[in-house]
Amino acid sequence: MANNLIKKKLQGKVVIVTGGASGIGETIARALADHGARAVVIADVQSEKGRAVAESIGQEHCSYVQCDVADEEQVAAMVEWTATTYGGLDVMFSNAGTVSSLPQTILDLDMSEYDRVMRVNARGMAVCVKQAARKMVELGTRGAIICTASATAEKATVNVTDYVMSKRAVLGLMQSASLQLGRHGIRVNSVSPGVVLTPLASKQGIETQADVDKYISRYTSLKGATLKAENVADAVAFLASDEAAFVTGVDLVVDGGMIAMPFDLSN
Ligand SMILES: NC(=O)c1ccc[n+]([C@@H]2O[C@H](COP(=O)([O-])OP(=O)(O)OC[C@H]3O[C@@H](n4cnc5c(N)ncnc54)[C@H](O)[C@@H]3O)[C@@H](O)[C@H]2O)c1
Repeated sequence: MANNLIKKKLQGKVVIVTGGASGIGETIARALADHGARAVVIADVQSEKGRAVAESIGQEHCSYVQCDVADEEQVAAMVEWTATTYGGLDVMFSNAGTVSSLPQTILDLDMSEYDRVMRVNARGMAVCVKQAARKMVELGTRGAIICTASATAEKATVNVTDYVMSKRAVLGLMQSASLQLGRHGIRVNSVSPGVVLTPLASKQGIETQADVDKYISRYTSLKGATLKAENVADAVAFLASDEAAFVTGVDLVVDGGMIAMPFDLSN
């Protein structure tokens, strides 16, 4: 009982999770429902999986809406549907993302892949933040917007130039939107995971939890731990909740210390 009371950070809130049909978004949609959200709307292009996740969350008020985050008309319609159906919009977790399966080094950058990645990760993020913010301003809601960036936005990784660029764009969007929306009482933050086992990570060769653990033990300072989507969920639940009432314009990095790792000059 006491545990339940501590957990309910989002009691009564109406929440949208983009990219909630899979991976980090799926885990976070479940976590936000557990935290007492009144409604969770999963917006994703994967309809079968999205519907299954919404049904399995089993909340009276969990829905799936088919939506391509880079298509402004679809996003505007999804946001409108959410606000009308559930009577408001308190939290936008703009999380949908993609990565190239090719090595995307600058010398061999495949520009059609570049366009595809930037379309979802940069344009899609801007469209979702814009449409959620417009609805919150219209309704006079002091809402919270959280974008999924990446540790790689803070410290570039090799072979994914387009992805790194797109995630840096998310940080720029988050900071500039936070400056503009503060006067409406809307907070805008981002979360930057290290490596989490998901279909997206598998495109980059991280295919098992052992791969994640190996990566973490090599590149992070926090030993004896691993990174799971649930750790990212805790960070997002905090940023979405009133506990973070004075937190805006911040990238909360959940990476076990990866970006803080010093150069090792000893070997
Ligand atoms: N997995 C990691 O290691 C990692 C690390 C840092 C950041 N991220 C970021 O986390 C977010 C979630 O990724 P994930 O790892 O859970 O991957 P995932 O592939 O499991 O989930 C991504 C989801 O986004 C959806 N999506 C893709 N394009 C879309 C579009 N145009 N419109 C709507 N939905 C779309 C997919 O259908 C999928 O359900 C992404 O923004 C990703 O860049 C992941």
